[in-house]
Amino acid sequence: MHLRDEAALASVLPYTARQFARAIVMPNLRPPVTTAAQAVAYRERILAALPEGLDFEPLMTMYLTDNTPPDEIKRAKDAGVVALKLYPAGATTNSDAGVTDLRKTYKTLEAMQREGLLFLVHGEVTDGDIDVFDREAVFVERVMKPLRAAMPELKVVFEHITTQEAAQYVTESDRFTAATITPQHLLYNRNAIFTGGLRPHYYCLPVLKREEHRQALLKAAGSGLPKFFLGTDSAPHVAQLKENSVCGAGCFTAISALELYAEAFEAIGALDKLDAFAGHHGPDFYGLPRNTGTVTLKREPWTLPSAVPFGEAQLKPLRGGETLNWKLIA
Ligand code: DOR
Repeated sequence: MHLRDEAALASVLPYTARQFARAIVMPNLRPPVTTAAQAVAYRERILAALPEGLDFEPLMTMYLTDNTPPDEIKRAKDAGVVALKLYPAGATTNSDAGVTDLRKTYKTLEAMQREGLLFLVHGEVTDGDIDVFDREAVFVERVMKPLRAAMPELKVVFEHITTQEAAQYVTESDRFTAATITPQHLLYNRNAIFTGGLRPHYYCLPVLKREEHRQALLKAAGSGLPKFFLGTDSAPHVAQLKENSVCGAGCFTAISALELYAEAFEAIGALDKLDAFAGHHGPDFYGLPRNTGTVTLKREPWTLPSAVPFGEAQLKPLRGGETLNWKLIA
């Protein structure tokens, strides 16, 4: 998920720390976190912004570029970095410094495979002739399959999957491939972006897809398969910039993430699978110990604030102003 930096970081971090004992922190700052030293410095800024009394472990990632040197991987490992993230250049928010051709990074990916660092993938091609709704399915064929063949023992997380094609690919792949699914992709299809007008707060990347894809994601999340686990991709943006002629991609869900997942799992009668999806499958795949603490969700209606402070600005959560049926009470 995205914590941003400086005043924005201080505004959003408490929401995540209230819900989660740890989180995988995305590196697409401006400038991006491309070295082990920058990841360590960012971790320190996160810990410094943590309010008294909240325990939270940021799990740090680095932003892969065409030029990330293979010997940076050992430094990353020694610094406690858990993964590198693929942003295909131009695919999403702050991805300008991203990878132009994954083959350019293969030496670095080999070093990650050796050192046991994970590879987190924003799985979309960016070619102008590919329809925006097809970018993920094309990525599976053009990038994922060659990557898996070249680097079979690299642990790859196909992040925030949105399509039937990606869900099927991950279901059929071996134990080195897993995927995360966001709450918004479980709860909404692409109609949400266009209901009664253009709705920027439902715009994220990869963009919401057709209903048949949402159904495939629900099936994957509710399957109990350990390859699928929680990953919110919660992505705060200044409300004024979301409601602008050009709107950045991202849904802010950190404030009610577990409640939103509970709603999705309840809708398919799979509440009994939520615990493992949220708390077991992720750490098992990452090779981390499972958390021993617990949280308590109660079926109790409450109204999400329509906006919260975000540094000097405002931030509008997904579903802001609406009533949720589940509430995190402890
Ligand atoms: O919707 C998104 N927002 N998708 C991403 O991949 C990046 C994120 C952001 O940083 O805002």
